[in-house]
Amino acid sequence: MSLYCLVYVSLANQEMSDEHLKSLLSKAREKNEKLAITGMLLYRDGFFMQALEGDKEKIEALFDTIAQDTRHRDVLLVYKKPIKERGFEQWTMGFNKLDSHSFEGLDGFSDFMQQPTPAFFKHRASEAEALLNQFKHQIFF
Ligand SMILES: Cc1cc2nc3c(=O)[nH]c(=O)nc-3n(C[C@H](O)[C@H](O)[C@H](O)COP(=O)(O)O)c2cc1C
Repeated sequence: MSLYCLVYVSLANQEMSDEHLKSLLSKAREKNEKLAITGMLLYRDGFFMQALEGDKEKIEALFDTIAQDTRHRDVLLVYKKPIKERGFEQWTMGFNKLDSHSFEGLDGFSDFMQQPTPAFFKHRASEAEALLNQFKHQIFF
C-alpha cells in the first residue's frame, strides 16, 4: 500500500449546523473505516479544510466523490503527498470547528481570519499543514 495524504479546501453551499455536520461525519466515519482512511475535517463559517490519509488510490477515489458533493463548492486541492506514517491515525475523521481564537499563536493567518476563502490556500500548503497539525489532538465532536 502506498500511503498518501491529500488536503483540500472548499466552501459550504449552505450554513452547516452542528446537526448537519454530525450527520455528514457519522456517514463519513463509517465509510472511511471500511476504506482504512483517516483524517481531519476543519470547519469555520462555511469554510472546510479536510485531510484524507490512506492508500493513494482510495483517497483519490474518495476525493473524486467528495468533490462532486453538492453540499460544497470551489473545491481546491492544496496538496497530495506520500507520507511515512499517518498524522491522524486514531481518527476515521477528526473534526474541529474553528473560531478566531483558533488562530492565536499561528502566524500568517490574518487575511484568512478576515475572510476565510479557499483561494487563500492556493500556494500555502505549509500553512494548511500547520493548521491541521494545530488541531490534531483537539477533536470537537
Ligand atoms: C466537506 C465534506 C467532507 C466529506 N468527507 C467525507 C469523508 O471523509 N468520507 C466519506 O466517505 N464521505 C465524505 N463526504 C461525503 C461524500 O461526499 C459522499 O456523500 C459519501 O462518501 C457517500 O458517497 P457514496 O454514496 O457514493 O458512497 C464528505 C462530504 C463533504 C461535503
